[in-house]
Amino acid sequence: MIYTRVFEEQTALARGAAEVFVQAAVGAIAQRRRFVVALSGGSTPRSTYELLSSPEFASRVDWPRVHIFWGDERMVPPHHADSNYRMALESFLAKVAIPDTQIHRIRGELSAEEAAQAYAADLSATLGIGGRFDLILLGLGSDGHTASLFPGTSAVQEQVAPVAAVYVERLAAWRVTLTLPTINATRSVVFLISGSGKRETLARMRAGERLPATLIRPDSGQLLWLLDREAFGI
Ligand code: 6PG
Repeated sequence: MIYTRVFEEQTALARGAAEVFVQAAVGAIAQRRRFVVALSGGSTPRSTYELLSSPEFASRVDWPRVHIFWGDERMVPPHHADSNYRMALESFLAKVAIPDTQIHRIRGELSAEEAAQAYAADLSATLGIGGRFDLILLGLGSDGHTASLFPGTSAVQEQVAPVAAVYVERLAAWRVTLTLPTINATRSVVFLISGSGKRETLARMRAGERLPATLIRPDSGQLLWLLDREAFGI
């Protein structure tokens, strides 16, 4: 099922996303005694993560039963300004009681190939055979990328490996990313999209242009688009 919710502005979007996260966590823990989630990188989710560390939301999640992964990572050390891990650590992970062994970062200090292999092993050990994420949060780049599935890259074509190392020409940088088979196996995939800078990309997607983000179609799970009016263009 695909749902779209448009929020008046970015703060309301962040609150809506935090509510979705908490409800997914409560449901997964009630049904399976744990919640396995992959966070998005970039800047959009920061306000959602900050809300998750606030008493209003943090008090509702049994954090010791949460496993944190990432949808992708830049190949930089964990405390580098560009690290998706660092952004999540600062905005909420350092403020909630998730055991360190349950924070499964992509090791950006390694080579992309080594980091991808280590992350795939960690993912497999945690999810088990046939396992899948309860929730994956994704952003949208203006070129239609999501996670680090950039247009024209080999990672978008990957249909078997759960994780890929990918060189992004446009950025002249390596990335590690979850692949489409992993993302599309997820119980609930949620896009967080804010700002007028994403309006044109969303319009291209609605017009049927085949971009990496349009390939996100959960096999049996839910796809939720959370946008603000700025991004939606109304
Ligand atoms: C990353 C993200 C990437 C991001 C989009 C949107 O590592 O940059 O995973 O996919 O979600 O580029 O980024 P903003 O939220 O900063 O617009």
